[in-house]
Amino acid sequence: MAVNKANKRWLVTHDEPKVAASEAYRLIRTNLKYSQVDRKIKSVIFTSAGPGEGKSTTIANVAVTMAQSGQKTLLVDCDLRKPVQHKIFELSNIMGLTNLLVEDIEAEDVIQPTKINGLDVITSGPIPPNPSELLGSTGMKQAMSQWVEMYDQILIDCPPVIAVTDAIVMAPQADGVIMVVQAYDANIDMVNEAKKRLTQADANIIGAVLNGVKTKGKDYYYYHYYEA
Ligand SMILES: Nc1ncnc2c1ncn2[C@@H]1O[C@H](COP(=O)(O)OP(=O)(O)OP(=O)(O)O)[C@@H](O)[C@H]1O
Ligand SMILES: [Mg+2]
Repeated sequence: MAVNKANKRWLVTHDEPKVAASEAYRLIRTNLKYSQVDRKIKSVIFTSAGPGEGKSTTIANVAVTMAQSGQKTLLVDCDLRKPVQHKIFELSNIMGLTNLLVEDIEAEDVIQPTKINGLDVITSGPIPPNPSELLGSTGMKQAMSQWVEMYDQILIDCPPVIAVTDAIVMAPQADGVIMVVQAYDANIDMVNEAKKRLTQADANIIGAVLNGVKTKGKDYYYYHYYEA
C-alpha cells in the first residue's frame, strides 16, 4: 500500500479500489461525465465555501478514477496558499505552476507523471506573494487553453471561496465548478454565499459533493454527489 512521508493515506482509489469510498469517487466521475449533455466539460474546478472541507482529497481521488477509466487527465494545484497535491502524489514541488507563470519555460517543464497511468500533475510551485494576480493573469489563461489541447480532463484544486478571491478569479476560466461541502460542519449560509459569489462570477456550477457522510457500512466515511 502506498503511504506518503507523513504516513497519511490520501488515495483510497489507488490503494483500495474495491472499497465503497472508491466506488463513491467513481460515482462522482460518472456524474461528471453525464453532466456533459449540452456542452463538453473538460476543465473542472473543485472548491468549497470554507477551509478543510475535503477539496484536495476529493479532487485527487476523482483524478485517479478518471485516469483509471482511460482518460488522459491533468490535475493542477491552483491552491497557491496551502498546496498539498505534491504531498498526496509524493512529487517534488521545486518547479510547478508559479514557475510556469513567471518564468520563460514550457508546460512540459512543470508537468509531472504520477504512479497512476494516464494521470499527470502540475504542483503549485513555490508559494507566491500574489496568488490571485497570478491566477487571473494572461499567462494562466494561455496555459489553460494549452492544457485543454493536451488532455481529456483537467481538474483544478482551488482555495475556499469565502476566504480569498482565487477560486472566483479562476471560475470563469473553467468549463465547470464542483463545490465540496463537509457533511456535518459546513455552515449553510457560507455555502449559499459561496454559491452566490461563484454565480456572480459567471461560474458554471455543475454539482456539489457532500463529503464525510457517515455510513453504517464497512467504510465509515462516504461521499455523495448532488446536483447543484
Ligand atoms: N471523506 C473523508 N474521510 C476522511 N478524512 C477526510 C475525508 N475528506 C478529507 N479528509 C481529511 O480532512 C482533511 C482536510 O482535507 P483536504 O486537505 O482534502 O481539505 P481541503 O478542503 O482541500 O482543505 P484546504 O481548505 O486546507 O485546502 C485532511 O486531513 C483529509 O485527509
Ligand atoms: Mg486543499
